[in-house]
Amino acid sequence: MADAGGPYSPDTVAVVGGRPPRAPGAPVGPGIELTSTFVAPGDFAPGLPIYGRYDNATWSALESVLAALEGVDGDGGALVYASGMAAATALFSLVPRGARLVIGATSYNTVLAAARELADAGDVRLTLVDVADTDAVRAACADADWLHLESPTNPLIEVADLPAICRIAQDAAVRVSVDNTFATPLLQNPLTLGADVVLHSVTKYLSGHSDVVLGALVTADAALHGRLVHHRVTTGSIAGPFEAWLALRGVRTLPVRFARQQGTAGELARRLAGHPAVVRVRYPGLPGDPGHEVAARTMRGFGAMLAIDLADAGAARTLTERVALWVPATSLGGVESLIERRRRIPSEPEAVPEALVRLSVGLEDVEDLWSDLSAALDSLA
Ligand SMILES: Cc1ncc(COP(=O)(O)O)c(C=O)c1O
Repeated sequence: MADAGGPYSPDTVAVVGGRPPRAPGAPVGPGIELTSTFVAPGDFAPGLPIYGRYDNATWSALESVLAALEGVDGDGGALVYASGMAAATALFSLVPRGARLVIGATSYNTVLAAARELADAGDVRLTLVDVADTDAVRAACADADWLHLESPTNPLIEVADLPAICRIAQDAAVRVSVDNTFATPLLQNPLTLGADVVLHSVTKYLSGHSDVVLGALVTADAALHGRLVHHRVTTGSIAGPFEAWLALRGVRTLPVRFARQQGTAGELARRLAGHPAVVRVRYPGLPGDPGHEVAARTMRGFGAMLAIDLADAGAARTLTERVALWVPATSLGGVESLIERRRRIPSEPEAVPEALVRLSVGLEDVEDLWSDLSAALDSLA
């Protein structure tokens, strides 16, 4: 019987990717492969699974969808990891010893911490750069081996001009990796712009239900893919099959979830911009946002993450205490709307204002979300 074939749009790929071959009596979706080892009589047989730290059919199903969503259809592929940070650690293992690593100055705090630790150990020389300033990135690339950036950034929601930056890096023979967690593969595909590796915290939108911690790297470079496979085998930073299965289940609905979340985020951003207790709304969908022009030109949407600046840290803290529907919690990308004053986390960089509150917009009704948020904001006056 014919398999799903293709090429299809991302909305279809999310649904049909990673399915078992279509045959009478075959399951429609992959199972959870719970085995640590595989039957293997005789000599080593290349291509056959051997051990659960090397191969797992549930990972492979998820990996094939992630690779397809990021536009990989030949060499390379995706690799899933125990967490986004396990993926980031694997990614940094690709950066040569002694190399100059340029990294977005306002990247997710633990990714920044991991890069700083490499620098402190003398493994790399580190340069921090403002990813929203393409000229600064160009200048940094003049003396760099590897550029790692996140766009939009967490939690300042700054936007990098990825097409321009990937071109600049390629011209300067600098390798590029992009953390695509906030945009998801639905809004941008850095590999198709020339980036070498894409990083995802699968924990977030891809899984989408706040019940999984998982990460992924995607590359179209066969040599880098091979090195990453080796690194995952030797470090053992593998995903659990159940988590991989849950993430794959989440990916099936990513396009519909994300469309709804993005629509609600845009509406809330507009309303928040008119609220007297809000000093600033950070959302690239707003025409006045510093990232608006670049996002409108380079992305297929503005995403579902926004941040607001209030008068001071006290107001921000009180807001997270007074909401009833929004859940005061870290993380993002799930079906439930989350709210967090980011500087409550001691490791959050000082570049993040004390009064900044990050909002991860979920699937609840927009009017319910607004009445809860606006009532809490009204109470601050
Ligand atoms: C942009 C970004 N990258 C990477 C990570 C790390 O992912 P994980 O928490 O799955 O290890 C996070 C986590 O918040 C993140 O927001």
